[in-house]
Parts: sequence; structure tokens; C-alpha cells
Amino acid sequence: MDMRQAVADLLRDALTAAFPDLPKDELPGPEHLEIPPDSKLGDFAYPCFRHAKALKLAPPKIAQAVIEHLNKPELATAQQVNAYINFFFHRGNFARNVLELIDSKGSDYARQPENGKTVVLDYSSINIAKRFHIGHLSTTLLGHSLKRIFTHLGWKAIGINYLGDWGTQFGKMIAAYKHWGSEQMLKEGGVTALNALYVRFHQEEESNPALSDEGRAWFKKIEDGDPEALAIFEQFKELTLAYAQTVYAKLGVTFDSYNGEAFFNDKMGRVIEELKEKNLLKESQGALVVDLEDDKMPPCLILKSDGTTLYATRDLAAALWRKDEYHFDKCLYIVAYQQNLHFKQVFKVLEKMGYDWARTQMEHVAFGMVSFEGQAMSTREGNVVHLDELLERAQEKALSIMQEKSPGISGMEQAARTVGIGAVMFTTLLNNRIKDIDFWWDRALSFDGDTGPYVQYTHARCCSVLKKAGEIAAAPDFAVLENDEAQAVLRLLSRFPEAVNAAAETYEPSMVTRATLELAKAFNKYYYEHRILEGSENEQAARLMLVRAVKTTIALGLYLIGVDAPEQM
Ligand code: ARG
Repeated sequence: MDMRQAVADLLRDALTAAFPDLPKDELPGPEHLEIPPDSKLGDFAYPCFRHAKALKLAPPKIAQAVIEHLNKPELATAQQVNAYINFFFHRGNFARNVLELIDSKGSDYARQPENGKTVVLDYSSINIAKRFHIGHLSTTLLGHSLKRIFTHLGWKAIGINYLGDWGTQFGKMIAAYKHWGSEQMLKEGGVTALNALYVRFHQEEESNPALSDEGRAWFKKIEDGDPEALAIFEQFKELTLAYAQTVYAKLGVTFDSYNGEAFFNDKMGRVIEELKEKNLLKESQGALVVDLEDDKMPPCLILKSDGTTLYATRDLAAALWRKDEYHFDKCLYIVAYQQNLHFKQVFKVLEKMGYDWARTQMEHVAFGMVSFEGQAMSTREGNVVHLDELLERAQEKALSIMQEKSPGISGMEQAARTVGIGAVMFTTLLNNRIKDIDFWWDRALSFDGDTGPYVQYTHARCCSVLKKAGEIAAAPDFAVLENDEAQAVLRLLSRFPEAVNAAAETYEPSMVTRATLELAKAFNKYYYEHRILEGSENEQAARLMLVRAVKTTIALGLYLIGVDAPEQM
């Protein structure tokens, strides 16, 4: 049973009984119930000012009258406080409701039936010939989590890694490779070697401008489809993707498509033609632009004077292609806030082209910067933290903490991988995405605090309690869950689906992270004050049902943010 709905129904009935003349359109729905700031004030609150005008009555009087007509004490009772009706669930029945629901749903808790809608998510979107640095963490994890959340809520979710595989820099890379590189070197050094070639090119270019021309010439060759240029470039691409796969595998991240910038090489003609037809293109210093002065933005560059296309041109083509291909109802770009202007421009140009969906269905899901123990990431200064190294270190550190904490458990290495990587993921998805993240090892890996290991540990604790208890067939006596600590846990359990919905509405996986963390905290508080395996079998059965629901919901919450939940750690 959905408590919000049930209480709303109860309220409507009482309101109608107390005031038969109340206009029908004023009758409340579940969305009108508020959650009191303090649970001592009840489980839901209803403000009666809403009807003061129609009923010509002071809100406290209205509240009083309604309370007299409430007729389901087995569901909830109520108190009037000022203008509010404060509802208190029947504690035992509330426990039964929540726990039976979660028991029957299992990992399908909070799931919605398929809704026939499609969401396209553009995330990770790495650049060829570069190593992942910690800056890629947010887009990769946010996108992955949003994909799981939307899928859970009944959407068809398509994950796209829009590869950065186009641009003049690849001409330079080939020039550098021809001068100083070899297959052997790529085989041994991988993406790191590619990176080094790129850095060397830039250094030497300063004293040897002829190199720039060479770079341009190679880029032209790629554009013209020269077989040698394409073969070398293809090699760079394979190398980068093979490396990226190792990182994605560790994170458990997958994609449905890798159609990146190069894929749209032959699909931009349509965009340019259409812009011309719709009279949106303007010449500016030899280039073609869409003027956005009326929208208080700089012009959007479409075609450079030398005929080359731009990042925005490709994104316009990609948006139109995605609409045709997937018929999306939503298209999300999970990209750092530095690209705010770019996406505003792209969406606006699409809108000017007459695509109204650009306004209603496209969304730039922006996020803040990541720094590492107080230091900003910067490629130029060389203090780059690479994601593969970060994950490696996270595992090692988790392993050493675990060896100290619980030596001798089986499968420790595997669990340490899950815990180390989970800690990185959890920290990344803990706060509002727009907030900058400063990553500290001690904080992220601590077993007590707002961390992944803390939540995973709580899950493992539930597993071990359940294992120790074994099967108990007795009918649960829910009265044993009427205490405040159990009720706090139950409230969080019952509100978990709302957190998942809100996370999808605001593109904020952190709402799921927080809901899961709060649940773990409330459960530990309960666990600290109450013994599970004590008293009659019926009482034990009820407590174990609570433990099972917490285990299920924590595992689900972690799953939705991409984190695994080991049974032992
Ligand atoms: N590759 C780009 C970068 O690293 C991000 C691409 C984002 N997606 C897009 N459709 N523009 O900056």
C-alpha cells in the first residue's frame, strides 16, 4: 500500500464528510501532503489554509472538524496543530505495510512499469588519444547512475559515449607519430605513449613552425579519407578504446553506442542545408554563423572560413540523428558546466530551426569540478590524477583497511575491489552535482562517515544477521517495531521510492545516495539500541523482516548509483 495515497484518501473522505459543500476541485491529492520537518510532528501534515476562503472558516477550526471525521485508526490518527492536521500512522500496521511491500518486490522495489518513453544519455564521451583523468569521473558515474535510475522507472535508456574522435589535433598526432613514433612504442606505451607524442609535438612546434603545417596537412588527409592517415588514426582509436574498456570494466559502466564526432562527418550537410533554407545562416568574417544576439548569446559558429565544421555543427547533426534514430522523449548531455554556453547555443539553434523539442526535451546536466586533496586538476601543470591509477589506489587502500579490520574473511581481494571503487563512486555522487568535489582518501574510504564503505558495511551487517538467524517460520509480530528507532527506519524505507523519482526529475543521483546513506544511519541506530534475536519467534520474525527490507533497499540504492554491495566485508 502507498501510505501517501492511503492517507490522502482518508483525508478526502473526512473532508467531504465534514464539509459536504466544499468545491470538488479543492479536494486534496497525495501531492498535497507535506512531510513535517520533525517526525515528532507526525508522518504527514496537511495545511488547512487551502480551504479557508471557500469555507469562510479559520484553518484551525477546519482542521478540528476534519479530525473528528477520520475513521481509520488502524491506518492513522491525527492531531490539530495551528492550521495543520498532523497525521500519525498506526505504527504496527505501518510496519506491516512497508515490510510486506518490500518483501514482495525485492530488488523491484520502487520500480515503475515500462512507460514506452526513451531517454538518450550522452555521458563519459572521452577524447581519443587521451587518458582518462579524474575529471571524467563525474560524467561517467552520473550518466551511468542516471541510466540505471531511468531504467528502474520504466524508461528505455540509451547510453551514448560520444567520442571526441575528430579535430585538427589528430592531424598533429599523426605528424608526431610519423616523426617520433612506432608501432612498437604504441604497443608498449599505449595511451600514455600517445599522450607523450602530443606533448612533444607542442613543445617542438614552438621552435619549428613547419610542424604546424605538417599537422594541418595530415588532418586534411584524414578528412579526404587518405588510407594511410585513416589507418594510423584507427590505431589511435583502438588503443584508446581498449584502454577505456579496462576502466569501464572496473566501474561496471557500459554503453549502447560509441557514435562520436567522426560518425557525423557525412551527416552535417543536412544541417547546413537546412540552416540555409531556413535563412538562419549569416556570414561573419568569412565564416558562417547563426546569430543569437536576440537571445543575448554570442553567435554559434557553424562553418569556418576554410570550410571546416565545428564542435557545435557536429552536435547539431548528432541531435537530429538521435531524434530520428531513437525518437527520444528526453536527451541528456552529462557534461561539465564549462560547456554551458555551448549547449545553450546548440539548443537555441535547434529551436530556431523549428524543433520545439529542443526546448522541452534536451537538457544539459552540468556538474562541477573535481579536485584532489585540495589541488585542482590541470593538464598543463602536470598534476593530473589518472582514473586508472586512482581506482588502483582505492583498491589497495581498501584492502589494507579491511585486512586490519576483519582479517581472514574469504574473498577479501574481491571485496576490497568493490569497496575501493564503491568509495570513489559514492563520494562522487554524494553531493549535488553542480558542487565542486574535493577528493580525500581518508574521507572517502573511512568505514564510518558519509561514505560508500560505511553503507556497504551496513549492508554486510544485515546479511550476516540474516545468515545467523536462519529461517524463522513464525508470523511476525509487528508491534515490536513500534519504537521510535524502528519507525525512523520504516519511514526512510517507505520514502525511498520518492527519492528515486526525485533523482530522475532533477537529474540528481545524489538524492538516491543520500536516501541510502540516511537509511544506513537510521538502521545502525536501531541496531545499536535493539537486539534482533531476542524474545519470541514472532518478535524475531518481525525484526528480521526489517533487517531484510533494509538489506534489499540499501542494495538497490547502491545499485542505482552503480555501486556493488558485498555480502561480507
Ligand atoms: N568530448 C567532449 C569533452 O571531453 C565532451 C562531449 C560531450 N558531448 C557532446 N555531445 N558534446 O569535452
